[in-house]
Amino acid sequence: MYKRKDGYYKMAKAEGYSSRAAYKLKEINDKYKLIKKGDTVLDAGCAPGGWLQVLSEIVGNSGKIVGVDILDIKNVKGENIHFIKGDLTEAKTLEEVLTYSNRYHTVVSDAAPNTSGQKIVDHMNSLELVKTIFNFTKKVLVKNGNFLFKLFDGEDRDDFIKELKNYFKNVKILRPDATRKNSFEIYVICQGFSGNEQ
Ligand SMILES: C[S@@+](CC[C@H](N)C(=O)[O-])C[C@H]1O[C@@H](n2cnc3c(N)ncnc32)[C@H](O)[C@@H]1O
Repeated sequence: MYKRKDGYYKMAKAEGYSSRAAYKLKEINDKYKLIKKGDTVLDAGCAPGGWLQVLSEIVGNSGKIVGVDILDIKNVKGENIHFIKGDLTEAKTLEEVLTYSNRYHTVVSDAAPNTSGQKIVDHMNSLELVKTIFNFTKKVLVKNGNFLFKLFDGEDRDDFIKELKNYFKNVKILRPDATRKNSFEIYVICQGFSGNEQ
């Protein structure tokens, strides 16, 4: 089990990605094509920056990525990357996001609150953060846009998935191979936003 983790960690180092998380996004995008060349993407909870690096490669020079985190990113640079140091639960941070663009083709969120070790507490905190990000996503996502997020799984997941299905054509839960098998992290892929008139 841990061999796999070590493998991804080594691969991330060798290929110059700042985190093994980079592979999770690669795997997901290879399969589900959430992000493409030229897109404008919001990366919520982007530090240390592995996803930013992958996104930067995918969207290319004609695209744009706005990354937000409370923490600094690690030496991740690119002309198409704009980093905001801030808390996603604060209005001033979200206002700053809008200064870069008020329309996003995809919002990705790997944001995770600090874990307490108590699964229920961690699930509730994670869900609350994701809901805050989703509320913002509803305002900025283009019609047919996509939303990908990480969640610490738990009992309130199904109600939220049900709500998401009112907004997206397809909603799918997955555990990418790059996620440790014993982890309670899930990723949820939401494709085909119905538009922000709702
Ligand atoms: C698992 S890491 C993200 C890894 C990233 N995808 C990568 O590839 O490097 C989760 C991040 O969410 C951030 N985070 C948690 N709560 C946040 C909040 N309220 N506002 C902004 N960032 C937050 C943490 O600081 C942490 O850096």
